[in-house]
Amino acid sequence: MSDLYLPLRFAHMTCAALSILCFVIRYIWMLRESTLLRNRVVKIVPHIVDTLLLLSAIGLVGMIGFGPNAAWLSAKIAGLIVYIVLGIFALKRGRTKGTRAVFGLLAIFVFAFIASVARTHNPIGFFMHV
Ligand code: HEM
Repeated sequence: MSDLYLPLRFAHMTCAALSILCFVIRYIWMLRESTLLRNRVVKIVPHIVDTLLLLSAIGLVGMIGFGPNAAWLSAKIAGLIVYIVLGIFALKRGRTKGTRAVFGLLAIFVFAFIASVARTHNPIGFFMHV
């Protein structure tokens, strides 16, 4: 295993933590109808974090190979797409605050699912306990 693997995985996990933190902060501001949501920093930083999350993911996949890990990696990619779409509806596209609130909770749930897939290397993550 390359010497870079563990540091890259640490960077990836840090970006994952920052990603959900940025989301939850914006979600709370959305619910409170805070004008902070319109701040320029808030519009830029989450995209940088999410780009680094994805780049570190690509680097890790390059090191361990997609083939032997296809099942759980595919589940993570699918989960990431769902997380992004739910996030867009939670922060912008949802028509009422009620629908945005529900989309936000679903986004947080899907994020937790992705993290459980990462930890277990199982494509159904924490659903294996159901
Ligand atoms: C919201 C999106 C994501 C979250 C929350 C997330 C979370 C995590 C976490 C917590 C770990 C560490 C698991 C552990 O060893 O305990 C991890 C590792 C990893 N993630 Fe992600 N990840 C995300 C997206 C992705 C994507 C899209 C890919 C690529 C398809 C990916 C590929 C990997 C790989 C290859 C590892 C290393 C696994 C290992 O060494 O056991 N991640 N991820």
